[in-house]
Amino acid sequence: MLADHQGWLSTKLGAMTAPLDATTPTTVLVLNGPNLNRLGTRDPDVYGNGSLEDLRVALTAEELPGVRIDLRQTNDEGELIGWLHDAIDSRTPVILNPAAFTHYSYALRDAAAMLTQAGMLLVEVHLSNPHAREEFRHTSVISAVATGVIAGFGFDSYLLALALIAKRLG
Ligand code: DQA
Repeated sequence: MLADHQGWLSTKLGAMTAPLDATTPTTVLVLNGPNLNRLGTRDPDVYGNGSLEDLRVALTAEELPGVRIDLRQTNDEGELIGWLHDAIDSRTPVILNPAAFTHYSYALRDAAAMLTQAGMLLVEVHLSNPHAREEFRHTSVISAVATGVIAGFGFDSYLLALALIAKRLG
């Protein structure tokens, strides 16, 4: 069960990537930061019982025409930054749960800023609502450079982000 934190959603009208074309699917990168490989067993009261694999299944089950999901997780800040660089080069929209990096990684923020400045959509997502938790979680160094933020809805944070990206691309 997810904690009964009040959901928090904010979106900024932002950039566009190439329109969807069912013949050449657009990849949506779903990037997950540290400790999210432990989903399912880590603090289920906060993060729910679903695993990262369950999340991949839920996103793929959306079967949005012209959209391909590429879900990844790393505990390594440099690897996550490298994936954002790749997304810039390949012009790929990103759903990003930066996990604890949210709160202090200026290096990740700079990479995220390059992505949105290049015109890509970047939706920051969180399973929990960080604003309803410890004070150190109230700061996101990513949000100001993201296209928008969805937090507090468990896996639905990701599904909402995917729907938004598909809508913007469609
Ligand atoms: C999180 C919230 C972060 O504060 C935390 O460090 C995480 C997960 C979330 O999805 O709710 O690892 O990003």
